Amino acid sequence: MIPFNKPYLTGKETLYIRQAVEIGKISGNGEFTLRCHKYFCEKFGFKKVLLTTSCTDALEMAAILIDTKPGDEIIVPSYTFVSTANAFVLRGAKIVFADSSNDNPNINASEIESLITKKTRAIVPMHYAGIACDMDKIMEIANKYNLFVIEDAAQSIDSYYKERPLGSIGHLAAFSFHETKNIISGEGGLLAINDERFFRRAEIIWEKGTNRAEFFRGEVNKYGWVDIGSSFLPSEIVAAFLFAQLENLDDIQAKRKLIWETYYKNLKPLSEKGLITLPFIPEYGTNNSHMFYIVCKKGQTRDNLLNFFRSNDILAVFHYLSLHKSPYYINKHDGRELVNSDFYSDSLIRLPFYYELSLDEVNLICNKIKEFFKKHFTTTE
Ligand SMILES: Cc1ncc(COP(=O)(O)O)c(C=O)c1O
Repeated sequence: MIPFNKPYLTGKETLYIRQAVEIGKISGNGEFTLRCHKYFCEKFGFKKVLLTTSCTDALEMAAILIDTKPGDEIIVPSYTFVSTANAFVLRGAKIVFADSSNDNPNINASEIESLITKKTRAIVPMHYAGIACDMDKIMEIANKYNLFVIEDAAQSIDSYYKERPLGSIGHLAAFSFHETKNIISGEGGLLAINDERFFRRAEIIWEKGTNRAEFFRGEVNKYGWVDIGSSFLPSEIVAAFLFAQLENLDDIQAKRKLIWETYYKNLKPLSEKGLITLPFIPEYGTNNSHMFYIVCKKGQTRDNLLNFFRSNDILAVFHYLSLHKSPYYINKHDGRELVNSDFYSDSLIRLPFYYELSLDEVNLICNKIKEFFKKHFTTTE
Protein backbone atom coordinates (compact mmCIF):
# COMPACT_ATOMS: atom_id res chain seq x y z
CA MET A 1 0.00 0.00 0.00
CA ILE A 2 1.31 3.48 -0.82
CA PRO A 3 -0.13 5.69 1.92
CA PHE A 4 -1.32 9.24 1.28
CA ASN A 5 0.93 10.70 3.97
CA LYS A 6 3.77 9.54 6.16
CA PRO A 7 5.22 11.84 8.82
CA TYR A 8 8.93 12.39 8.26
CA LEU A 9 11.37 12.50 11.18
CA THR A 10 14.65 14.33 10.67
CA GLY A 11 16.38 12.32 13.43
CA LYS A 12 16.85 15.02 16.07
CA GLU A 13 13.29 15.22 17.38
CA THR A 14 13.76 12.89 20.36
CA LEU A 15 17.17 14.40 21.18
CA TYR A 16 15.64 17.88 21.43
CA ILE A 17 12.65 16.59 23.41
CA ARG A 18 15.14 15.01 25.82
CA GLN A 19 16.99 18.31 26.09
CA ALA A 20 13.73 20.12 26.80
CA VAL A 21 13.00 17.63 29.58
CA GLU A 22 16.51 18.04 30.98
CA ILE A 23 16.21 21.82 30.98
CA GLY A 24 13.41 21.21 33.45
CA LYS A 25 10.72 23.43 31.93
CA ILE A 26 8.34 21.55 29.71
CA SER A 27 5.35 23.89 29.81
CA GLY A 28 5.13 26.50 27.03
CA ASN A 29 7.18 29.57 26.14
CA GLY A 30 10.56 28.12 27.12
CA GLU A 31 13.91 27.70 25.41
CA PHE A 32 12.68 25.75 22.35
CA THR A 33 9.68 28.00 21.82
CA LEU A 34 12.05 30.97 21.76
CA ARG A 35 14.37 29.16 19.33
CA CYS A 36 11.44 28.47 16.99
CA HIS A 37 10.25 32.08 17.23
CA LYS A 38 13.76 33.33 16.42
CA TYR A 39 14.00 30.97 13.47
CA PHE A 40 10.75 32.23 11.92
CA CYS A 41 11.66 35.89 12.42
CA GLU A 42 15.15 35.47 10.96
CA LYS A 43 14.29 33.16 8.07
CA PHE A 44 11.06 34.81 6.92
CA GLY A 45 11.36 38.30 8.36
CA PHE A 46 8.20 38.08 10.48
CA LYS A 47 8.06 40.88 13.02
CA LYS A 48 6.42 38.78 15.73
CA VAL A 49 5.26 35.18 15.90
CA LEU A 50 3.72 32.93 18.53
CA LEU A 51 3.70 29.14 18.39
CA THR A 52 0.24 27.72 18.92
CA THR A 53 -1.12 24.24 19.49
CA SER A 54 -2.65 24.25 15.99
CA CYS A 55 -3.45 26.45 13.02
CA THR A 56 -7.05 26.29 14.23
CA ASP A 57 -5.91 27.95 17.47
CA ALA A 58 -3.93 30.59 15.58
CA LEU A 59 -7.05 31.43 13.57
CA GLU A 60 -9.11 31.61 16.78
CA MET A 61 -6.53 33.99 18.24
CA ALA A 62 -6.78 36.11 15.10
CA ALA A 63 -10.57 36.25 15.42
CA ILE A 64 -10.21 37.49 19.02
CA LEU A 65 -7.48 39.97 18.10
CA ILE A 66 -9.57 41.75 15.48
CA ASP A 67 -12.43 41.89 17.99
CA THR A 68 -14.83 39.83 15.92
CA LYS A 69 -18.34 40.43 17.26
CA PRO A 70 -21.80 38.95 16.64
CA GLY A 71 -23.16 40.42 13.43
CA ASP A 72 -19.74 41.01 11.84
CA GLU A 73 -19.31 39.56 8.37
CA ILE A 74 -16.15 37.70 7.42
CA ILE A 75 -15.35 36.86 3.80
CA VAL A 76 -13.97 33.32 3.53
CA PRO A 77 -13.52 31.00 0.54
CA SER A 78 -15.98 28.13 0.52
CA TYR A 79 -13.25 25.78 -0.67
CA THR A 80 -11.22 25.58 2.53
CA PHE A 81 -10.87 23.72 5.79
CA VAL A 82 -13.61 24.19 8.36
CA SER A 83 -11.31 26.05 10.81
CA THR A 84 -10.89 29.00 8.41
CA ALA A 85 -14.56 29.80 8.99
CA ASN A 86 -15.18 28.23 12.39
CA ALA A 87 -12.72 30.51 14.21
CA PHE A 88 -14.96 33.48 13.38
CA VAL A 89 -18.26 31.63 13.84
CA LEU A 90 -17.13 30.91 17.43
CA ARG A 91 -17.15 34.69 18.02
CA GLY A 92 -20.62 35.09 16.55
CA ALA A 93 -19.68 36.29 13.06
CA LYS A 94 -21.56 35.55 9.88
CA ILE A 95 -19.48 33.93 7.15
CA VAL A 96 -19.92 35.28 3.63
CA PHE A 97 -18.53 32.59 1.37
CA ALA A 98 -16.60 33.47 -1.77
CA ASP A 99 -16.04 31.26 -4.79
CA SER A 100 -12.72 29.84 -6.02
CA SER A 101 -10.96 31.15 -9.11
CA ASN A 102 -11.45 29.57 -12.53
CA ASP A 103 -7.87 28.38 -12.85
CA ASN A 104 -7.08 27.33 -9.25
CA PRO A 105 -8.91 26.64 -5.98
CA ASN A 106 -7.88 29.94 -4.33
CA ILE A 107 -10.44 32.64 -3.57
CA ASN A 108 -11.47 34.63 -6.62
CA ALA A 109 -10.09 38.04 -5.61
CA SER A 110 -12.17 39.80 -8.29
CA GLU A 111 -15.37 38.70 -6.56
CA ILE A 112 -14.49 39.98 -3.08
CA GLU A 113 -15.51 43.62 -3.50
CA SER A 114 -19.06 42.66 -4.47
CA LEU A 115 -19.41 40.77 -1.15
CA ILE A 116 -18.51 43.73 1.07
CA THR A 117 -21.21 45.38 3.17
CA LYS A 118 -21.14 47.83 6.10
CA LYS A 119 -20.82 44.81 8.40
CA THR A 120 -17.74 43.32 6.73
CA ARG A 121 -14.81 43.16 9.12
CA ALA A 122 -12.22 40.88 7.53
CA ILE A 123 -11.15 38.86 4.52
CA VAL A 124 -9.54 35.46 5.13
CA PRO A 125 -7.72 34.26 1.99
CA MET A 126 -6.40 30.70 2.14
CA HIS A 127 -3.39 29.84 -0.03
CA TYR A 128 -4.40 26.46 -1.39
CA ALA A 129 -1.54 23.95 -1.76
CA GLY A 130 0.77 26.72 -0.54
CA ILE A 131 0.25 28.67 -3.78
CA ALA A 132 -0.41 32.36 -3.22
CA CYS A 133 -3.74 34.12 -3.54
CA ASP A 134 -3.67 37.44 -5.40
CA MET A 135 -2.53 39.35 -2.31
CA ASP A 136 -1.99 42.80 -3.89
CA LYS A 137 -5.57 42.82 -5.04
CA ILE A 138 -6.86 41.55 -1.70
CA MET A 139 -4.82 44.09 0.32
CA GLU A 140 -5.95 46.90 -1.96
CA ILE A 141 -9.61 46.03 -1.36
CA ALA A 142 -8.98 45.65 2.39
CA ASN A 143 -7.30 49.07 2.56
CA LYS A 144 -10.08 50.70 0.57
CA TYR A 145 -12.78 49.41 2.97
CA ASN A 146 -10.64 49.40 6.14
CA LEU A 147 -10.84 45.64 6.62
CA PHE A 148 -8.46 43.20 8.25
CA VAL A 149 -6.79 40.47 6.23
CA ILE A 150 -5.96 37.21 7.96
CA GLU A 151 -4.00 34.81 5.80
CA ASP A 152 -4.85 31.17 6.31
CA ALA A 153 -1.31 30.03 5.56
CA ALA A 154 -1.83 26.52 6.97
CA GLN A 155 -0.15 24.98 3.92
CA SER A 156 2.15 27.84 3.03
CA ILE A 157 5.44 27.58 4.86
CA ASP A 158 8.35 28.70 2.66
CA SER A 159 6.15 29.93 -0.15
CA TYR A 160 6.19 33.43 -1.60
CA TYR A 161 4.08 36.09 -3.27
CA LYS A 162 6.22 38.45 -5.36
CA GLU A 163 9.19 37.44 -3.20
CA ARG A 164 7.33 38.17 0.05
CA PRO A 165 6.80 35.14 2.32
CA LEU A 166 3.19 34.04 2.55
CA GLY A 167 1.95 34.87 6.01
CA SER A 168 3.80 38.20 6.08
CA ILE A 169 1.34 40.19 3.97
CA GLY A 170 -1.99 40.26 5.82
CA HIS A 171 -2.40 41.83 9.28
CA LEU A 172 -2.24 38.34 10.78
CA ALA A 173 -1.52 34.86 9.46
CA ALA A 174 -1.94 31.29 10.68
CA PHE A 175 0.32 28.32 9.83
CA SER A 176 -0.15 24.62 10.55
CA PHE A 177 2.39 21.98 11.59
CA HIS A 178 -0.13 19.15 11.56
CA GLU A 179 1.52 15.90 10.50
CA THR A 180 0.32 16.29 6.89
CA LYS A 181 2.25 19.54 6.39
CA ASN A 182 5.80 20.12 5.09
CA ILE A 183 7.11 20.87 8.59
CA ILE A 184 5.38 19.02 11.38
CA SER A 185 5.01 18.64 15.13
CA GLY A 186 2.08 16.22 15.21
CA GLU A 187 -0.38 18.99 15.97
CA GLY A 188 0.95 22.53 15.98
CA GLY A 189 0.63 25.99 14.53
CA LEU A 190 1.94 29.52 14.43
CA LEU A 191 0.37 32.96 14.51
CA ALA A 192 2.34 35.59 12.58
CA ILE A 193 1.53 39.08 13.76
CA ASN A 194 2.40 41.62 11.09
CA ASP A 195 0.51 44.61 12.47
CA GLU A 196 2.29 46.10 15.50
CA ARG A 197 -1.02 47.16 17.06
CA PHE A 198 -1.59 43.49 17.93
CA PHE A 199 1.82 42.65 19.43
CA ARG A 200 1.03 43.09 23.12
CA ARG A 201 -2.52 41.79 23.12
CA ALA A 202 -1.58 38.69 21.09
CA GLU A 203 0.77 37.57 23.84
CA ILE A 204 -1.91 38.12 26.48
CA ILE A 205 -4.55 36.15 24.57
CA TRP A 206 -1.95 33.40 24.05
CA GLU A 207 -1.35 33.15 27.81
CA LYS A 208 -5.00 32.66 28.87
CA GLY A 209 -5.75 36.38 29.09
CA THR A 210 -2.88 37.10 31.49
CA ASN A 211 0.25 39.21 31.18
CA ARG A 212 2.37 36.28 32.32
CA ALA A 213 4.81 36.57 29.37
CA GLU A 214 5.64 40.14 30.42
CA PHE A 215 6.08 38.95 34.00
CA PHE A 216 8.55 36.23 32.97
CA ARG A 217 10.55 38.79 31.02
CA GLY A 218 10.69 40.93 34.17
CA GLU A 219 8.69 43.75 32.61
CA VAL A 220 6.00 43.73 35.33
CA ASN A 221 6.36 42.58 38.94
CA LYS A 222 3.13 40.57 39.10
CA TYR A 223 0.77 39.16 36.55
CA GLY A 224 -2.98 38.74 36.44
CA TRP A 225 -6.09 38.48 34.33
CA VAL A 226 -6.12 41.42 31.93
CA ASP A 227 -8.14 40.29 28.87
CA ILE A 228 -9.92 37.29 27.38
CA GLY A 229 -7.70 34.47 26.18
CA SER A 230 -7.13 30.76 26.26
CA SER A 231 -4.37 28.18 26.48
CA PHE A 232 -3.05 28.64 22.96
CA LEU A 233 0.63 27.90 23.59
CA PRO A 234 2.17 24.47 22.99
CA SER A 235 4.42 22.70 25.48
CA GLU A 236 8.19 22.68 25.08
CA ILE A 237 7.94 19.05 23.99
CA VAL A 238 6.09 20.12 20.87
CA ALA A 239 8.41 23.11 20.32
CA ALA A 240 11.49 20.87 20.62
CA PHE A 241 10.07 18.49 18.01
CA LEU A 242 9.26 21.41 15.72
CA PHE A 243 12.73 22.92 16.04
CA ALA A 244 14.32 19.68 14.77
CA GLN A 245 12.11 19.97 11.71
CA LEU A 246 12.82 23.65 11.12
CA GLU A 247 16.57 23.01 11.11
CA ASN A 248 15.97 20.70 8.14
CA LEU A 249 13.58 22.90 6.21
CA ASP A 250 15.86 23.30 3.18
CA ASP A 251 16.49 19.57 2.85
CA ILE A 252 12.78 18.77 3.27
CA GLN A 253 11.83 21.34 0.68
CA ALA A 254 14.43 20.14 -1.85
CA LYS A 255 13.11 16.58 -1.66
CA ARG A 256 9.48 17.66 -1.85
CA LYS A 257 10.24 19.79 -4.93
CA LEU A 258 11.79 16.80 -6.66
CA ILE A 259 8.67 14.72 -5.98
CA TRP A 260 6.41 17.53 -7.18
CA GLU A 261 8.36 18.06 -10.40
CA THR A 262 8.44 14.32 -11.12
CA TYR A 263 4.65 14.17 -10.81
CA TYR A 264 4.25 17.27 -12.98
CA LYS A 265 6.54 16.12 -15.81
CA ASN A 266 5.06 12.65 -15.82
CA LEU A 267 1.44 13.81 -15.92
CA LYS A 268 1.89 16.69 -18.37
CA PRO A 269 0.99 14.57 -21.43
CA LEU A 270 -2.39 13.72 -19.84
CA SER A 271 -3.09 17.39 -19.22
CA GLU A 272 -2.04 18.23 -22.80
CA LYS A 273 -4.61 15.70 -24.01
CA GLY A 274 -7.21 17.54 -21.90
CA LEU A 275 -7.88 14.56 -19.63
CA ILE A 276 -6.83 16.22 -16.37
CA THR A 277 -5.81 19.68 -15.17
CA LEU A 278 -2.53 20.13 -13.32
CA PRO A 279 -1.86 22.72 -10.59
CA PHE A 280 -1.66 26.27 -11.87
CA ILE A 281 1.11 28.46 -10.44
CA PRO A 282 0.39 32.14 -11.11
CA GLU A 283 3.37 34.26 -12.13
CA TYR A 284 3.21 36.14 -8.82
CA GLY A 285 3.53 33.00 -6.68
CA THR A 286 5.98 30.22 -5.90
CA ASN A 287 5.27 26.58 -5.26
CA ASN A 288 6.34 25.16 -1.87
CA SER A 289 5.49 21.60 -2.93
CA HIS A 290 3.01 21.15 -0.14
CA MET A 291 0.83 18.82 -2.19
CA PHE A 292 0.31 17.49 -5.66
CA TYR A 293 -3.26 17.59 -6.87
CA ILE A 294 -4.92 16.84 -10.17
CA VAL A 295 -8.37 17.94 -11.29
CA CYS A 296 -10.55 15.61 -13.36
CA LYS A 297 -13.04 16.93 -15.88
CA LYS A 298 -16.02 15.43 -14.06
CA GLY A 299 -16.86 14.31 -10.54
CA GLN A 300 -17.72 10.81 -11.75
CA THR A 301 -14.27 10.38 -13.34
CA ARG A 302 -12.67 11.54 -10.09
CA ASP A 303 -14.64 9.02 -8.04
CA ASN A 304 -13.80 6.22 -10.48
CA LEU A 305 -10.12 7.16 -10.33
CA LEU A 306 -10.18 7.16 -6.51
CA ASN A 307 -11.67 3.65 -6.59
CA PHE A 308 -9.08 2.56 -9.13
CA PHE A 309 -6.30 3.84 -6.85
CA ARG A 310 -7.78 1.97 -3.91
CA SER A 311 -7.97 -1.28 -5.87
CA ASN A 312 -4.29 -0.78 -6.72
CA ASP A 313 -3.24 -0.18 -3.10
CA ILE A 314 -2.62 3.53 -3.56
CA LEU A 315 -4.22 5.92 -1.13
CA ALA A 316 -5.17 9.10 -2.97
CA VAL A 317 -7.83 11.35 -1.46
CA PHE A 318 -10.29 14.09 -2.32
CA HIS A 319 -10.10 17.33 -0.38
CA TYR A 320 -12.48 19.99 0.92
CA LEU A 321 -16.24 19.87 0.51
CA SER A 322 -17.72 23.32 -0.17
CA LEU A 323 -18.40 24.85 3.25
CA HIS A 324 -21.44 26.81 2.02
CA LYS A 325 -23.13 23.43 1.41
CA SER A 326 -22.00 21.83 4.67
CA PRO A 327 -24.70 20.47 7.00
CA TYR A 328 -23.75 23.17 9.52
CA TYR A 329 -23.86 26.14 7.16
CA ILE A 330 -26.24 25.33 4.31
CA ASN A 331 -29.22 27.03 5.98
CA LYS A 332 -27.15 30.06 6.96
CA HIS A 333 -25.70 30.61 3.48
CA ASP A 334 -27.37 33.28 1.36
CA GLY A 335 -28.08 30.86 -1.48
CA ARG A 336 -25.49 32.12 -4.01
CA GLU A 337 -24.11 29.41 -6.29
CA LEU A 338 -20.35 28.91 -5.93
CA VAL A 339 -19.69 26.77 -8.95
CA ASN A 340 -15.91 26.68 -8.90
CA SER A 341 -15.79 25.66 -5.25
CA ASP A 342 -18.28 22.86 -5.98
CA PHE A 343 -16.26 21.82 -9.01
CA TYR A 344 -13.04 21.44 -6.97
CA SER A 345 -14.99 19.60 -4.24
CA ASP A 346 -16.22 17.10 -6.82
CA SER A 347 -13.22 16.78 -9.13
CA LEU A 348 -9.94 17.28 -7.28
CA ILE A 349 -7.65 14.47 -6.11
CA ARG A 350 -4.58 14.76 -3.91
CA LEU A 351 -1.91 12.21 -4.76
CA PRO A 352 0.36 10.57 -2.16
CA PHE A 353 2.95 13.11 -1.09
CA TYR A 354 5.56 12.79 1.65
CA TYR A 355 9.31 13.14 2.06
CA GLU A 356 10.06 9.43 1.89
CA LEU A 357 7.93 8.79 -1.22
CA SER A 358 10.43 7.43 -3.76
CA LEU A 359 10.56 8.64 -7.34
CA ASP A 360 9.89 5.04 -8.42
CA GLU A 361 6.66 5.17 -6.43
CA VAL A 362 5.78 8.52 -8.03
CA ASN A 363 6.33 6.96 -11.47
CA LEU A 364 4.23 3.95 -10.52
CA ILE A 365 1.36 6.21 -9.39
CA CYS A 366 1.58 8.20 -12.63
CA ASN A 367 1.59 5.00 -14.69
CA LYS A 368 -1.55 3.89 -12.86
CA ILE A 369 -3.23 7.18 -13.73
CA LYS A 370 -2.28 6.71 -17.38
CA GLU A 371 -3.59 3.13 -17.27
CA PHE A 372 -6.86 4.38 -15.76
CA PHE A 373 -7.41 6.93 -18.49
CA LYS A 374 -6.56 4.45 -21.21
CA LYS A 375 -9.09 1.98 -19.80
CA HIS A 376 -11.68 4.52 -18.77
CA PHE A 377 -11.84 6.32 -22.05
CA THR A 378 -11.99 3.24 -24.21
CA THR A 379 -14.56 1.36 -22.14
CA THR A 380 -16.86 3.97 -20.58
CA GLU A 381 -16.63 7.11 -22.68
C1 LIG B 1 -6.48 25.59 5.04
C2 LIG B 1 -6.42 25.04 6.41
N1 LIG B 1 -6.63 25.85 7.46
C3 LIG B 1 -6.56 25.40 8.72
C4 LIG B 1 -6.27 24.09 8.99
C5 LIG B 1 -6.22 23.64 10.41
O1 LIG B 1 -4.93 23.28 10.78
P1 LIG B 1 -4.66 22.54 12.17
O2 LIG B 1 -4.93 21.09 11.95
O3 LIG B 1 -3.21 22.82 12.44
O4 LIG B 1 -5.54 23.16 13.18
C6 LIG B 1 -6.04 23.20 7.94
C7 LIG B 1 -5.74 21.80 8.23
O5 LIG B 1 -5.24 21.05 7.46
C8 LIG B 1 -6.12 23.69 6.61
O6 LIG B 1 -5.93 22.88 5.55
